[in-house]
Amino acid sequence: MQTSSSASIRLAALGATLLAVAAGPAALAQDGPEPMALRAIMKQLDRDLQAVTGAIAVEDWPRVGELAPKIGRHAEPPPPEKLRILGWLGAEAGSFRGFDTKVHDAATSLAHAAARGDGAEVIAAFARVQQGCLGCHQAFRQRFVAEFHGKR
Ligand code: HEC
Repeated sequence: MQTSSSASIRLAALGATLLAVAAGPAALAQDGPEPMALRAIMKQLDRDLQAVTGAIAVEDWPRVGELAPKIGRHAEPPPPEKLRILGWLGAEAGSFRGFDTKVHDAATSLAHAAARGDGAEVIAAFARVQQGCLGCHQAFRQRFVAEFHGKR
């Protein structure tokens, strides 16, 4: 089985080369081999927000109450990524954090309103959550993507 094992070694080497070539431009654009955690966190926020919309539609307040803390206490990027983002934000870090706080506070009100079964206040608090998302996106998203993912 000498031949087939050396063939598979050659194949493995070729595979590694192809991978390196394929990863090249992406690695350059992202300035690092790992995709950033923030995007995955955002995708989760998006899913949780959509789930809240669904629960509001059927007035399932206990479900809204379960989802609200997930939005308020969403995951954070690992410390090195956080430092990188904060370094890039510089003097704007306070403004960035302010939007995050707005989302957090609104999610807390959302949970309280859901616990009371107060549909009108649930919707008002949910709107404030979305204002926090939108505010941060309008202020930072485009520049963030240009900085960390290259132009696209
Ligand atoms: C403090 C700032 C900030 C807040 C608050 C914020 N986002 Fe984001 N969001 C970002 C940034 C920066 C990006 C771009 C990330 C990237 O492309 O890597 C982003 C990207 C996204 C994306 C696109 C992800 C993709 O695959 O391109 C979604 C969806 C998203 N956010 C949802 C939300 C939702 C929902 C909320 C509110 C619950 C929210 N975000 C609140 C900063 C924020």
